[in-house]
Formats: sequence, structure tokens, C-alpha cells
Amino acid sequence: YNPELIRNISIIAHIDHGKTTLVDRILELTHSIDERKMKDQYLDMMDIERERGITIKSQPVKIYFNSKDGNKYEINIIDTPGHVDFTYEVSRSLAACEGAVLLVDASQGVEAQTVTNTYLAIENDLEIIAALNKIDLPNANPEETMLELDDLIGLDVDSIKTISGKTGEGVEELLETIVSKIPPPTSKGTSKDKLKALIFDAIYDRYKGIIINTRVFSGTIKKGDKIKLMATGKDYEVIELGIFHPEMTESDSLSAGEVGYIVAGIKNIEEAKVGDTITSSLDPISKPLEGYQEVKPMVYAGLYPGVPDYYEELRKALDKLKLNDASFSFIPENSPAMGFGFRCGFLGLLHMEVIRERIEREFELAVILTAPSVVYKAKLRNSEIVEINNPAEYPEPDSIDKVFEPYAKLEIITPPEYMGNLINLAQVEKRGEFLSVSNAGKNRVVLHFEIPLAELIFDFFDKMKAISRGYASMDYEFLDYRQSDLIKVKILVNKEPVDALSFIAHKSKAYETARKVVDKLQDLIPKHQFEIPVQGYADGRIIARSTIKAFRKDVLAKCYGGDITRKMKLLEKQKAGKKKMREIGNVNIPQDAFLALLRIN
Ligand code: GTP
Repeated sequence: YNPELIRNISIIAHIDHGKTTLVDRILELTHSIDERKMKDQYLDMMDIERERGITIKSQPVKIYFNSKDGNKYEINIIDTPGHVDFTYEVSRSLAACEGAVLLVDASQGVEAQTVTNTYLAIENDLEIIAALNKIDLPNANPEETMLELDDLIGLDVDSIKTISGKTGEGVEELLETIVSKIPPPTSKGTSKDKLKALIFDAIYDRYKGIIINTRVFSGTIKKGDKIKLMATGKDYEVIELGIFHPEMTESDSLSAGEVGYIVAGIKNIEEAKVGDTITSSLDPISKPLEGYQEVKPMVYAGLYPGVPDYYEELRKALDKLKLNDASFSFIPENSPAMGFGFRCGFLGLLHMEVIRERIEREFELAVILTAPSVVYKAKLRNSEIVEINNPAEYPEPDSIDKVFEPYAKLEIITPPEYMGNLINLAQVEKRGEFLSVSNAGKNRVVLHFEIPLAELIFDFFDKMKAISRGYASMDYEFLDYRQSDLIKVKILVNKEPVDALSFIAHKSKAYETARKVVDKLQDLIPKHQFEIPVQGYADGRIIARSTIKAFRKDVLAKCYGGDITRKMKLLEKQKAGKKKMREIGNVNIPQDAFLALLRIN
């Protein structure tokens, strides 16, 4: 153990700029894993991550690098998620490091998360090494990307590296720069001081229970030690600890400057909070590390078993998912239309999609997800303040004094030619307020807005991409709650109110949205043997209406006289299809219809 030879780094980048590929090359170059085990995207462990090509969970790895200066360095690389939903995880991973490699795709240029993540790195006092990636691509434009970095972040152009994670070009030089420029962890504490360590991630393992990923700032942790987690004040005994090389490998101790894992008989992921500080139970420090915050779900949706009988199975699946994901929350909910289910909290829409996919894949359960909603607040006439994360529970209009909705700070980076239409989108269509614009290089501008969060979570991203032909990127951050003129719209199918379809809208858009939703439902709900009215109701009256026409023929009519197996097949197919439907007022409503609000436009 020589802390002078340790380097702790993160790689930060906009989504898809090539972090995971770069780490693959580094693992190869330093012979850190068996070539037979080397598969592309080694760090992206979850199937969904591999398929979608995105990193969701941070996964640290330790490598050894023989530098030209004659030393063998230990480099801990903490990969970070690139998606906006997971900013808090990025921030905690950065807090575990002394330096960061800022990776920018030279064929794409600087994008929104490049900037956000760089600011996070600066806030954490990290030494930053910028590297332009994908220079093997014919359309790479390193010169222009350097100008953008200079304008946006004020980076010294001469210090910027050029590399290709794909071909490996420049990767060895990058490692040399890392060991020479990034400081060792020694200035932050020594192994002789009291124990102070950061939890930057926690995962659940079926055999070991909760595994904490930690960075030790000062002191030493050994097997058998009693540790205290400062957020809860609870004590545990260290059962096992070790490093990531790159798989979990047991070791005797973890000392100041090192990164590794700890198993301490923790049963519940909520006890091992990301961002929390670990200290010694016998000789604790008085103040935890700074910057710890509880993550709060931004988006809520109802989740119901596809087949009502599977409620218990769904609860078990959610319990298991929760073990691994402290930012996911759920409580039982009972909907008159949908039966028993859960109201779930997510960090954002991607997080919601990931959870839904994991339930369907890992637990093989079909589920119905209802349209997501942000958390509104209402001050009632009796002065009580209530939080509303379910439109079905919106208070009666006469009981409300004021309603508030969450606002976000939004930044969009785009080529200047799309600026007008993007401002239009945010300001006219999405109730945002345009604040200012700044330049970055020749081909980029940064637009600053304040905008209701509810307007961002639906189709904003897709619209922004469409307007800018894919060139614009965005990032947002919760700002505050503001008073707003909101109204609840109820949806009735065949005259029955379907609580899971109701939504909260701004008054200026309630009529238009209701109209679009009932039209969309007309497309999404299949024809029945009778005519079905679909209505939007607000302000004490029907504000929109559509009609699903009746079948002209019975499904089976076609088969009369036909062969019996064909008829059986058709029936079977219908049965399978019904699995993810709900029958409400004699109408079968398929899963897709519950997300009608997401599908309008
Ligand atoms: P997230 O984890 O989702 O943030 O993405 P990432 O930054 O880890 O990106 P990833 O490594 O998955 O790379 C994204 C895509 O770019 C993949 O299709 C890679 O094959 C490709 N790619 C990465 N590096 C290079 C490079 O140097 N050259 C070329 N031509 N392609 C690259």
C-alpha cells in the first residue's frame, strides 16, 4: 500500500460519447482481465444496459499501470451513468475521485451533459483532463470541438488529448497523463487518521446481502471492525471487504485513498444510502463528509399486475428491485378501475422504463403502467398543504386555495439554426420561459430556460431531437415550486370514470389535451360489439368526446365453417392479448391506452 501511487478517477461524458468503450480498451491494454472473459462493454453488467448501450449503475474497477516513469500505479476508475435521471449518482462517484477524464465525442461536439458533468467535477474540486474521442471517425472535428470546450468550460486547448476508444489510439498517452497530472489521494487524509469513507454506491447480492462501494478518505477498515453509517447512526460489523480487479476480490484492509467494497450484514438498501459517510463505531469522526442529500423521486406512476391474480408476485418483484435501487419507491394503491397495484416513484422516465423492463424480463410478469405524473402541491382552504403524486387523488376544486407545480432549470445546446424553433417549443408550446443564450464555438449556442417539469417529462426530448434533426441536447435540474393554474381532467370510458386515465393539466391546455387524449384512446382501445363513448370531464362538464364504433362482424364470424384449429388459435391469441388488459364498464382497455397521455401528438 503506497497511497502516492494511487489515482482515483471518473470518466465523465455525454451519453454515447464512448466511456464504456474507453474503459474496455484500458482493461485490455493493462491486461486487467482474462481475454477469454473480455466481452465488449465489460462494465455494463445488466442486460438492459448492454442492449440499450447505456450505463445505469456505476461500476468501479481497479487497474495497474506501468508508467514510463518506472512506477506501477494503481488506478481506480469509477464509471458513471451518463443519463440525466442519474445525476446524483454521477455526483457521488465524482466525490470519490481526485480527477476526471472529460470525454467528448469529436464527431458530435460538446453536448448538454458534457457541460453539466464538467461543472459537477469542478464543484468537487477535481483535476480535469479533456480527451476528444472517436478521432478515427471521418467526420470527427477535433479543432471545432476544442473551441467549444474552450468557450463553454474555459479549458486550455493545448492540454486536450485526442484518442479513439475503438482503435486504442492515444489511450496509453492518456494513462500517462492521468498518472502525471491527477494528484494522489494523500492530501485528503492518511491511514493514521480516524476512519472516514464515502458510500458512492450500494448493491444487493443474494448471498452477501448489501455490498457497499466505498472510497476511504482517512483511516483503515479491516475485517471484524465495527463501523457506523452516519446518516442513520447504525452500527455494523465488517464481514468481508475487498477491491474490484475487476471482479470483487477479497483483501485484508482498505486504507486512506483506496476504493473497494464492504459487506457488513446490512439487510436493507435504505440503510446504505449513497452519499453517506462510514466511520468507526469505537472512534467516530464528529462530522460526516459534505454534500449528502436524499434522492427524491421526480415522477410517479401507477403499476398494476397485468393479471390481477399476480398482485403478490408483483409485490415480491418490487421488493427485490428495491433491494438494488434505493432511488425507486413504491406503496400499495387501490384503484376502483384497476384493482390492487402500486404507486411508484422514479427519478425520471428512463428510470421508469428500466424498472418496467426489469419486471417484465427478470420476473416474467406482465404489468400495466399508468401515465406518469410529477408531484404537485396544494394549499387547501383549511391551510393544510398536501402533496399530490396521483391525479386520482387530486383534491376537490372547492377545497383548494392554491396549487403549485415543480419547475426546472433547462439548458439546451444546439447548432444556432434551430434556436428559433427550439425557443418556440419551450416557450409557446411548453409554457417555459426563455432566459438567455450564450455562444460556444462557431456552431453551438446554449439556451437557458425555466420550465414546468411536467412539460419536460413527456415528449419534450423527442420534440427537441426532431426539431434539431438530432443535434440538440438538453439537461435539466429541479428548481422550485411555483403557483399555477391547474385543473384535473377525468376520463370516462363507456360512461365509467377510469381513475387511472385522469390527469392534471394547466388550464390553458386542458381542453386541447383532453381532446387529444380521447382521440388517442379511440385509436388505442379496440372495437367491441357495441359503441363506446370516450369522454373528457373537467370544470363540471364534458369537455371532449370521441366514439369507438362497434364491430360490424363478430371475430369468429370469419371462421364459421372454417377449420377448427384456426378458430382455436384465434381464441388463444385473444386470451393472450387480454392478459394486459383491464375490463372497465364492459370495455377491455389494453396497456397502451393507459399511456395515451404519453402518446398524444
Ligand atoms: P453511456 O454509458 O450510455 O453513457 O455510453 P458510453 O459513453 O459508455 O458509450 P459507449 O462506450 O457505449 O459507446 C457509444 C457508441 O460509440 C458505441 O456504439 C461504440 O462502439 C461507439 N464508440 C465508442 N468509442 C468509439 C471510438 O473511439 N470510435 C468509434 N468509431 N466509435 C466509438
